[in-house]
Amino acid sequence: MARPGISPDPSHSGGEPPAPRHIAIIMDGNGRWASAKGLPRTAGHERGVEALRRTVEAARDLGISYLTVFSFSTENWRRPAAEVNTLFALLKAYVQRDLQRLKQDGVRVRVIGQREGLPSDIEALVERAEAETVHNTRFHLTIAFNYGSRNEIVRAATAYAQALADGTCKGPATEAGFEAFLDTRELPDPDLVIRTSGEYRISNFLLWQAAYAELLFLDVLWPDFGRADLENAIQRFHERERRFGAVTPGAT
Ligand code: IPE
Ligand code: IPE
Ligand code: MG
Repeated sequence: MARPGISPDPSHSGGEPPAPRHIAIIMDGNGRWASAKGLPRTAGHERGVEALRRTVEAARDLGISYLTVFSFSTENWRRPAAEVNTLFALLKAYVQRDLQRLKQDGVRVRVIGQREGLPSDIEALVERAEAETVHNTRFHLTIAFNYGSRNEIVRAATAYAQALADGTCKGPATEAGFEAFLDTRELPDPDLVIRTSGEYRISNFLLWQAAYAELLFLDVLWPDFGRADLENAIQRFHERERRFGAVTPGAT
């Protein structure tokens, strides 16, 4: 029996290759972008927000339905407090400045990651952004903030175990049953995960969800990322053959 999460898009009926429905991006390289220009790292983060704006717009134009971006990891708390503060301030400014336009453009905004431990003003803003866009369906922008995959999996496993124990969920445990407790429960699995900045690692991003994603590692630093890079990434996605563990139809 096919499981929707790791099968090709069931709505696709052949012909043109299916567009990646869900692209996830590890937006990396802000600090190196700034250092290369003799600027403070925070300048790179500021320019990174502009790259995010460009990418959201381009993704919508290119027929992508879901875009998930890694913006602050649970491990990024290890950075100097001043840098962490800048990253929080930039998230706040982005939501404050862009929420009305995202709302008008039919964008549903979600924030995944651990809420506990976030400053209360950020938590309130995130809740407002989600509530105000809850009825939008045209495009799904998900911001992974204070997100770590292992953290998410432990939170989900704890909640699932509790639900199985108290009878809210019926056993035995299943993959689909577990996924209903992940932060991403309303999202399809990513088809394509892009990491910028030339690093070849996942850094605790969507470990469960990206089980069958195509991975693309690009040298471009995130502040320089734009529409052409996204178009190129989609082109390269189309060159991949996704088999989901099966064999190519017609192969002998
Ligand atoms: C990505 O850029 C932004 C975050 C991780 C918050 P970096 O700040 O990691 O930039 P580099 O990797 O040091 O160049
Ligand atoms: C991953 O980038 C996290 C984000 C892009 C938010 P990092 O820069 O934190 O990852 P490492 O430390 O190079 O693995
Ligand atoms: Mg980095």
